[in-house]
Amino acid sequence: MADKVAVVTGSNKGIGYATVRELCKRGVGSVYLTARNIQKGQEAIKNLKKEGFNPLFHQLDVTDKDSVKVFADFLKRKHSGLDILINNAGVITSNFTETTYEDSVRVLNTNYYGEVTMQNYMFPILNDNARVINISSDSGHISNLKNTYWINRLTKEDIKVEDINAFVDWFLDSVKNGTLNEEDFEEMPLLAYIISKIALCALTRVQQKEVGRGISVNSLNPGYVKTDMTNNTGYLTMEEASDAPVYLALDVDQSVKGKFFWFDKTEKEWADPNQKLFIPYADMERQLNLI
Ligand SMILES: NC(=O)c1ccc[n+]([C@@H]2O[C@H](COP(=O)([O-])OP(=O)(O)OC[C@H]3O[C@@H](n4cnc5c(N)ncnc54)[C@H](OP(=O)(O)O)[C@@H]3O)[C@@H](O)[C@H]2O)c1
Repeated sequence: MADKVAVVTGSNKGIGYATVRELCKRGVGSVYLTARNIQKGQEAIKNLKKEGFNPLFHQLDVTDKDSVKVFADFLKRKHSGLDILINNAGVITSNFTETTYEDSVRVLNTNYYGEVTMQNYMFPILNDNARVINISSDSGHISNLKNTYWINRLTKEDIKVEDINAFVDWFLDSVKNGTLNEEDFEEMPLLAYIISKIALCALTRVQQKEVGRGISVNSLNPGYVKTDMTNNTGYLTMEEASDAPVYLALDVDQSVKGKFFWFDKTEKEWADPNQKLFIPYADMERQLNLI
């Protein structure tokens, strides 16, 4: 454990921060807390040091290719490779019930294209048998979609990244042209976020097929968690929510590959549209109304 190198994206706060703390607690040798904002990242490091943990820090903005490349080059030089990559950085729609083009582009750029950039620069430096955990959501389950063309295209065995890019383009074009059709989706609130997390789950399956060298890539719904993203509503604390990513990073058998996990560490069938696994927005709205 002491010789392992782990990176958690977007870990200056929230689930990422709690995951860094837990990885340190479990004795992982080099745990990188990363943040797009250096000051926020260093503040988070200071707080963990006060608790007796010793994470390392590096700047990382997943939407900035230069930032990702600089960090990948640094990791290669310093450690020669990476054992654990937790792609946690994410944003939610600015307005939960309205879908605008600019905001949808922002969400897709971070939650989907940011992961593609991370793949491009970080996968080449992954050590053999490394583990990648993509933090998705219940919003990422295929049952959020009703459009059968896209359900079939995204769940086919020989899916390629081009299929996912076409799905994202279809969504963004529909928002831009005002042709979004409510019949295509279970629910309209948080739609850009839903599309981004479905795309991330589909990407996980493509990544697993292509990566080789014993590396595992799994996606995870961390649960409905009290963080800034949810205005501190939710059923889990960020400490409770760090349990499942750490389980996938350190404990699950290495043979578990390309799967979709739930926060209680059970595996769910991502490609089955009949399993209605998402939390209805009305539940979240009730929680938001309580505060
Ligand atoms: N909370 C939930 O109920 C819930 C449920 C399902 C899934 N998730 C997923 O869990 C992950 C963590 O969410 P959270 O609830 O912990 O949210 P959070 O408290 O808002 O934290 C999000 C983190 O991502 C960082 N981030 C945003 N854009 C970034 C970028 N371009 N590059 C690098 N870092 C970036 C943020 O940095 P700044 O501080 O600079 O903004 C922050 O550190 C997300 O992927 C989210 O979609 C959360």
